[in-house]
Amino acid sequence: MNVLVLGSGGRENAICWKISQSSLLRSLFIAPGNGGTARFGENVNIDNLDFKAVKKFVLEKNINMVVVGPETPLVEGIVDFFEQDKQLQNVAIIGPNKTCAQLEGSKKFAKEFMIRHGIPTAKYASFGSDQIKEAQAFIDTLKKTIVLKADGLASGKGVLILDDPKKAKEEVKAMLNGKAFGDAGKTVVIEEFLKGIECSAFIITDGQSYKILPEAKDYKRIGEGDTGLNTGGMGAISPVPFCTPEFLDKIETQVIIPTMKGLHADKLKYKGFIFFGIMKVGNEPYVIEYNCRLGDPETEAILPRMKSDLLNLFEGVATETLGEYDMHMDERSAACVMMVSEGYPGDFEKGKEIKGVEEIQDSLVFHAGTKLSGKDQKLVTNGGRVMAITSLAFRLEDAIFQSMKSANSIKYSGKYFRKDIGEDLMKFTTK
Ligand code: AMP
Ligand code: GLY
Repeated sequence: MNVLVLGSGGRENAICWKISQSSLLRSLFIAPGNGGTARFGENVNIDNLDFKAVKKFVLEKNINMVVVGPETPLVEGIVDFFEQDKQLQNVAIIGPNKTCAQLEGSKKFAKEFMIRHGIPTAKYASFGSDQIKEAQAFIDTLKKTIVLKADGLASGKGVLILDDPKKAKEEVKAMLNGKAFGDAGKTVVIEEFLKGIECSAFIITDGQSYKILPEAKDYKRIGEGDTGLNTGGMGAISPVPFCTPEFLDKIETQVIIPTMKGLHADKLKYKGFIFFGIMKVGNEPYVIEYNCRLGDPETEAILPRMKSDLLNLFEGVATETLGEYDMHMDERSAACVMMVSEGYPGDFEKGKEIKGVEEIQDSLVFHAGTKLSGKDQKLVTNGGRVMAITSLAFRLEDAIFQSMKSANSIKYSGKYFRKDIGEDLMKFTTK
């Protein structure tokens, strides 16, 4: 099979690494890829929102399957573009269509879906740009801590959690006026704050059956002890020790099954990954958000635990035979530590030479913001999140220790990573 992966992050590097082990693979291309994906296939310089350019490449190289990593091409309708084009109809594309991707692309759509289908989620209301007064009045009906969410995609920055209702009223006005998040914020979801502990759950579905992937916990804040600004994710642990079999069972019965039934009832044929952002409140799961893709850096912790062939799984999605597929997971724990550039998630410099990657033996290195530069193809930093280091071990603490050790031995100017990834989970471990 000739495969094209769209995306350029650590998630896509992990997907490429996993696909490269498949007996079904003939050639692999990544658009645009990064310094790490180049180890597994050929990086091609195509903008994955330029669907016509993607089509041209797919036809030129006889691509049989396109795997879409990030949400934007999905929300923009790349799957619909493929399905409606006669020349592309035999090309499998892994991801949901534009309507289904609204589960991530519109917070309002997602909340209405959850309420309609009895899926536990925070109490909410949504408001448009002509409803500033109504939105502010709704804030008065909620407890002190208020969550404001821009309806549309805002690169993970569209959520504000505010302890001061007065400030929340000012912010909601700025959002609805289009001043805070542009068009993405012209519809706002306001919801109650849920106090609990978060985890990420994932399934892959062919529209009928689904397979549950391992759960993970992501570390979103830049600073140790979960302090400072939100980032794309500073590390991930899988499995999650507080996700007991009983709790995972609740996620399946109260969230996953009602979501699948809701999709059927709404006549939405969802093919691809569903990422459930879960808040464990007491012992109950609540859905904080849906995403229409895998998480980053959760993927870098999950895929190393997957023993089965990923391309085979994707083929099951494409041919709608996922029910026949057996998925096997490694029992070991995975600890992923994200190394970033100094200054991230604010301004940072690029182009710093990275050394020591080749010497890493006991961890997997998934590149994110890296590229090969100049005549001698030196590996340099090229983004805020630079690379994810993942280690596997029977004891979570050993996996964490190994990832920290490997992260310590990779060098570049301005390197930073959180040294406390997974520490909060030690109190739940039994091993
Ligand atoms: P989202 O983009 O919806 O995932 O929100 C980003 C982050 O905001 C989540 O990962 C949570 O940490 C937090 N968050 C969102 N909604 C709520 C809520 N209703 N209660 C508490 N925290 C929330
Ligand atoms: N790690 C969170 C996300 O991918 O959205």
